[in-house]
Amino acid sequence: MPNKIKVGVLGATGAVGQKFVTLLEDHPWFELTELAASDRSSGKSYKEATVWRQYRPIPERLKATKVKPCEPTLDCRVVFSGLDSSVAGEVEESFARAGYLVVSNSKNHRMDADVPLLIPEINPEHLDLIKVQRKRRGWTGAIVTNPNCSTIGLVMALAPIHRAFGVKRAIVVTMQALSGAGYPGHSAIDMLGNVIPFIGGEDDKVETEPLKIMGTLDGEEIRFAGCQISAHTNRVFVEDGHMECVSLELEKKATPADVATVLARFSSLPQELRLPSAPERPVIVTDERDRPQPRFDRDAGNGMSAVVGRIRECPVFDIRLVVLSHNTIRGAAGAAILNAELMSAQGLLE
Ligand SMILES: NC(=O)c1ccc[n+]([C@@H]2O[C@H](COP(=O)([O-])OP(=O)(O)OC[C@H]3O[C@@H](n4cnc5c(N)ncnc54)[C@H](OP(=O)(O)O)[C@@H]3O)[C@@H](O)[C@H]2O)c1
Repeated sequence: MPNKIKVGVLGATGAVGQKFVTLLEDHPWFELTELAASDRSSGKSYKEATVWRQYRPIPERLKATKVKPCEPTLDCRVVFSGLDSSVAGEVEESFARAGYLVVSNSKNHRMDADVPLLIPEINPEHLDLIKVQRKRRGWTGAIVTNPNCSTIGLVMALAPIHRAFGVKRAIVVTMQALSGAGYPGHSAIDMLGNVIPFIGGEDDKVETEPLKIMGTLDGEEIRFAGCQISAHTNRVFVEDGHMECVSLELEKKATPADVATVLARFSSLPQELRLPSAPERPVIVTDERDRPQPRFDRDAGNGMSAVVGRIRECPVFDIRLVVLSHNTIRGAAGAAILNAELMSAQGLLE
């Protein structure tokens, strides 16, 4: 692309913000021109404002960049939002009203009827809601969201199975990494040798967001998918990578081998369009008896693939499996960047 599209990051100093900065460095289509965060950070250099917690060093060219306030006067077309949810709602609306395309990680607008809750491999057609959003809200920008970090991995496995065999009911138990709570997150003394069986609002997100994503766009509304999900969400002492144990009741009978075949063959529009962040295989099926594991499998497909293993019969429902995905890449910054790539490929960023 000769002229890269200018993009900014809101919440650039946070855990997700830093991941945006890392993934956008050297992006073939996007050029990161603006960094914004709270009053605590604005006016400072990026190096001074952020406690850098990535394996790759802080990009040299951004060290001295001034962090700006989250006001819609930034020199860019797209803003990626990694804002704390206490402020994301209003700030993102102010940007959309001013004509920016906002691609958000925050929960605030995910379930709004006119906002796409997008996984490009699963529901790219939901981007048509942007027209509805602009008509209803009278703005020229748009807000597009990516799902909760556990929802994304879950739905990448669930949606192909739902299409092939129909999912009636699902029980999901998550084991979610510490980085999912942002930085500094939980204290070490709370987590060491421990599991916390509560993540505020998370059970509800994992139970409801998949129904919107797997729903059908009918005119100006999404008809939610009809399956039922029960979720137990837990925080575990793992750095990155959310793992989920899933039991499924299906409409049509299927063997573990049938399910494995459907998942392994799954490919979609981002792969067809060869979007820069799209993994070659959205779902990687492993038949090793003790995988996936966060430490070994979270970076599959550059952190953009969901890894599914332990597909077997369930004595209570029909099928059970384990799915793992990288929570700050496929579950957050990487997902939002893929959303923007799809929007760009569809001419929505012009
Ligand atoms: N971590 C994950 O795996 C993950 C996954 C999916 C979605 N999310 C969502 O992504 C968002 C960010 O999460 P995180 O883990 O990156 O959190 P975080 O590390 O706490 O970072 C929060 C960011 O929001 C900024 N901020 C806070 N208050 C602000 C205000 N009043 N005005 C402007 N900026 C403000 C902070 O700036 P300062 O540094 O200046 O305070 C910081 O840049 C959350 O909504 C979270 O739910 C996180």
